[in-house]
Amino acid sequence: MNNLNEEIKKKIDIIEFIGSYMTLKKAGRNFKGNCPFHQEKTPSFVVSPERQIWHCFGSCGDGGDVIKFLMKWDNITYLEAVKEFAEKLGLPMKEYNLQDTNVKLRERLFSANRHAANFYTYMLSKSPYGEKAREYLEKRGIRKEIAHTFELGYAPSSWDSLLRYMESKKFTQKELIEAGLVLRSERGSVYDRFRGRLMFPLKDVKENIVGFSGRSLNPDEKTAKYVNTPETFIYHKRETLFGIHIAKEAVKKEKCIILVEGEFDMITPYQYGIEHIVAIKGSAVTREQLMLIKRYTNRVYLALDADAAGEEAIKRGIEEAEHLEFELGVIVFDFAKDPDEAVRADLVKFKKAVSEPIPVYDYVIDFYRKKFPEDDAFSKKNIGEAVAPFFAYINNPIVASHYVKKLASLLDVSEESIRSLLRKKSYKKVSSTANFKKIQVSQVNREDVVQKYFLSSLLQYEAKKVLLDKLVPLLSPDDFSFPAYQKLYQQIYEKRETFELPDINTFASSLPDELKTIFDELYLYASADVEISEKNIGQLAYEIKERALKRKIQAGLGQESSQTNEDTLSRLSTELKELEKRAINV
Ligand code: CTP
Ligand code: MN
Repeated sequence: MNNLNEEIKKKIDIIEFIGSYMTLKKAGRNFKGNCPFHQEKTPSFVVSPERQIWHCFGSCGDGGDVIKFLMKWDNITYLEAVKEFAEKLGLPMKEYNLQDTNVKLRERLFSANRHAANFYTYMLSKSPYGEKAREYLEKRGIRKEIAHTFELGYAPSSWDSLLRYMESKKFTQKELIEAGLVLRSERGSVYDRFRGRLMFPLKDVKENIVGFSGRSLNPDEKTAKYVNTPETFIYHKRETLFGIHIAKEAVKKEKCIILVEGEFDMITPYQYGIEHIVAIKGSAVTREQLMLIKRYTNRVYLALDADAAGEEAIKRGIEEAEHLEFELGVIVFDFAKDPDEAVRADLVKFKKAVSEPIPVYDYVIDFYRKKFPEDDAFSKKNIGEAVAPFFAYINNPIVASHYVKKLASLLDVSEESIRSLLRKKSYKKVSSTANFKKIQVSQVNREDVVQKYFLSSLLQYEAKKVLLDKLVPLLSPDDFSFPAYQKLYQQIYEKRETFELPDINTFASSLPDELKTIFDELYLYASADVEISEKNIGQLAYEIKERALKRKIQAGLGQESSQTNEDTLSRLSTELKELEKRAINV
């Protein structure tokens, strides 16, 4: 396996590879971009072409090579990622025995769902039991080819028809329970979860069937309208977008995506030619769903049910979408309850609505102006206070200023009054852990940060030897507060003659194992924002020295007084004074 690992890393260029998934910009020796694995506004995701590694300095703090990147991106195991690269590169995989139990379980569950889907589609299309479901689909205007495209099916109203079918296909009850296809009752008997329902397979981007959703055919039944696969090893509701495997190409082409609530709200418009559309299965769009969408487009248009297009769903949508820097719009129609009905009621009108999405903040303003229509001070106050929490999410200052102006002019009040309303109520929640971490770092851990910047800049600086010769009289290894940094500084100094950039890899491989990981992280650290110049590195060196001296003086003051201690303290104080004098001239 290890050789294969090395082969892959040799053959895949990390900048090209990661660059095909996200935007990378050159930053000094390295490249950077917004981390695709957590929401952020300032890029803290750094990739090194020389080291062929990446690291996120934001809240996820993760890093690694191309294989690790693919694992995280596709949410797959190490073995699955290696397998994918091996296939792509035409490397022989046979020699390596795939023994990962997680891979096996996933594949077994996918296979169970695949067999179940075959059973359900057979029941819908061929069996006499499927008659009622066929009539139901016809009544809802779904064509046969479309039912076929989505692999719709029918689960008969029986307690164990699927169970018996699956057992004949050699699946154990335990596996079927794990797949969520059957349930065990309190008395220990096992029975089908989906009974007498129209079945929708839920697929991931790669068309694996991760679960099912089953709609009751009986409008006044006591049971739930929809029954879904519970959370399983392969089904995670928050990550699922119904129809994404079919819609993704159209989404790329149209450069936007329409989000609807239900399966039929996706399928019916699709049947009538609106193909860049997926269902979120409910009215709350999750961060996980948006992260998935982010791979295909930056523009999201909500076409929620007429009733649900209200405050909460939109507010949640805005919060998450602003985090991930989406352009959010709302598709408004008032002649039907949901997109499924709208398409069937008036296709032309619905297509028109789809082609004219309203930017979400305009939608919010309209919404509250309709809610408080009077032209008096109290209505204006109500509108302002209702809209302000939405405006507080706007990240971009130009967009923010645009809407402050717009609202002020619509209400015929001053812009300053809107701004002061926004200031007065600090609406924005401190919800971003990323920001919180940054604040903590800058206040509590400045010492660590300074040392990291210093080492990182030094490593990336071209004329290392000349610079080091100037720095060494000032800064010694024990001025660093962490043993790893001390050792690394020592190594850089000792090897200053032998390593010059760009051959950083020779230096890296010469390091003792325990320093290798910290080296990779430090090497990428300074790419985040600071210019790497002799002046900046020099200033950092002074700051480290100053802090080191203060730290040593503090420690000395805490000790019992003795002649040597007094001498050391006075020497350190003189040194500090000297340093402070010189620092002014840096
Ligand atoms: N939903 C669910 N479980 C429920 C109810 C709803 O998973 N008990 C999901 C389904 O994906 C459903 C969506 O939420 O399609 C929206 O629900 P709703 O608006 O109630 O149903 P419709 O989509 O209008 O369904 P239909 O047109 O079949 O009546
Ligand atoms: Mn509906």
